[in-house]
Amino acid sequence: MLHIEKLTGLMGAEVSGIDLSQDITDKAAESLRQALADYQMIAIRGQHLSLPRQKRLTEVFGPIMQLPYVEPLKNDNQVIAVLKEADECNTGIFGGEWHSDFSFLENPPAGSLLSAVEVPKVGGDTVWASQVSAYASLPTHLKDIVDGRKAVHVGTPYGVKHAPPPESRANASIRMSRGDPDADREILHPAIITHPKSGRQALFLNPIYTTRFEDMSEEESKPILQEIYKHCTRPDFSCRLRWQAGDIAVWDNRMSLHYATNDYDGSRRLLYRTTFSAERPN
Ligand code: SIN
Repeated sequence: MLHIEKLTGLMGAEVSGIDLSQDITDKAAESLRQALADYQMIAIRGQHLSLPRQKRLTEVFGPIMQLPYVEPLKNDNQVIAVLKEADECNTGIFGGEWHSDFSFLENPPAGSLLSAVEVPKVGGDTVWASQVSAYASLPTHLKDIVDGRKAVHVGTPYGVKHAPPPESRANASIRMSRGDPDADREILHPAIITHPKSGRQALFLNPIYTTRFEDMSEEESKPILQEIYKHCTRPDFSCRLRWQAGDIAVWDNRMSLHYATNDYDGSRRLLYRTTFSAERPN
């Protein structure tokens, strides 16, 4: 029997009472999907999953997706090692800005799963922010702008503008190949999307990849987007996971934003990440 404990008032829950090294029953799978729909992020502690078990858990939520641009494991192209070595200091990290993964794809990932293998004694937490709560409390003057509007998402800002110089990219533990025309074309998504299971609505805009609204220039969009980002990353809507080796986190990539904290220079951090898909957001 699954036990669910909320992590904060508005998002995130810790799920216990399940051993993921065993087969997952249909009933347990449905409860996990429901918990994810309800809380946008669920943490399941102390599992120490093998990669095949991690992939089986990922499939509970949707078909596994192979991500472009990020170098996967050599022996498994569906798994990414999110790794920062102890000697990688004073450098940016993978996911170290508020974002929704790969929102510039035509069909961005529905969700992701991280399994912690080695984590710093302290630091390296991941933070999520519920975009359901952010939308529900969005001031009316911003709601009037985003309702029914589409926004442009493009990979260029991360792939080109914010990319580390080539020499540090070559040494980084996690490698991204970018500057790719496919990543750098503009893709339109609704600014507000609806969850297919819960029917809840969420803001679908993020500071890394959303460059402007469909019918506005970047200059016109910028102050509006800045105001929205200030609102949608408020600590009120967030939850934070302090990792321990063996922990799993699963999150809805469309109903939440996330941020990897970069406060652990001198320690090694390794998590395995898998990603699942769903229909295009609308
Ligand atoms: C990510 O953005 O998926 C990485 C999150 C993390 O390393 O905490």
